[in-house]
Amino acid sequence: MKTFRFLLTFALLLTSMSACCEKKSASANENEVIQTIMERRSIRKYAPQAVSKDTMEIILDCGINAPNAMNRQSWEIRVIEMAKHPEFVEALPKGIFRGAPTMVFVANETANRFSQVDCGLLGENMILAAQSMGIGSVVLGGPAAMIAENPELKPLLETLDFSQGYQLLYCIGFGQALESPDAKPRMKEKYRFID
Ligand SMILES: Cc1cc2nc3c(=O)[nH]c(=O)nc-3n(C[C@H](O)[C@H](O)[C@H](O)COP(=O)(O)O)c2cc1C
Repeated sequence: MKTFRFLLTFALLLTSMSACCEKKSASANENEVIQTIMERRSIRKYAPQAVSKDTMEIILDCGINAPNAMNRQSWEIRVIEMAKHPEFVEALPKGIFRGAPTMVFVANETANRFSQVDCGLLGENMILAAQSMGIGSVVLGGPAAMIAENPELKPLLETLDFSQGYQLLYCIGFGQALESPDAKPRMKEKYRFID
C-alpha cells in the first residue's frame, strides 16, 4: 500500500513538472518582450518621415531607464531629424546613415570605466522600445567613428554640442521600416553553461 502511494505521488509529481515546463515554453513563445527581442532586425531602408517627437520621447525615456553603473547615467544623447540637418548626410559617404530619418547620437563619458556599457544598454532599451511600437532602427558605429575621428568633421560635432569629457560613441537611426530582413545566423556555441 505504502509503495503504491509513493508511486502515485511520484507519478503525479512528474506529470505536474512536465505540465509546468510546457507552460513555461508556451508562455515564452507568447511573451511580448521575447517576441520583440527576437523580431528586431537592423533596418537599412526607411520611409522619409521622421519619428514624431512624442514617440521619440518615449523611446528616449526607455533608454535612460536602462541599468547603468552606480546610476551615474554616464551618457549624453542628441536627437536630430536628418532632413533638418542635411550637412550630416552631405559630409559623410553616401548611404552610411542607411537612410534613417531620425538619428540619435550617443556619447560616453570618457573618464567613467563603465560608460560604454551604460551607453550600450541605453541603446538596446531604445531599439527594443522602438520595435515594440512598430518603429525600425539600426545601430551605426561607422558614421560616429568618422565624425569623432576626422578633424574636418568638427563642425558636425559642434552641432551635436556634447559636454566636455564626453565622446561620440555611436548613433542609432530610427524610422518607419520599408524592409523586414531575416535574422542573421547566431553562434550558439558562444554561450556555454559551466556545471
Ligand atoms: C556597435 C555596432 C555598430 C554597428 N555599426 C553598423 C554600421 O556602421 N552600419 C550598419 O549598417 N550596421 C551597423 N551595425 C548593425 C549590425 O551590422 C547588426 O546589428 C548585425 O549585423 C546583426 O544584425 P541584426 O541587427 O539585424 O540582428 C552595428 C551594430 C552595432 C551593435
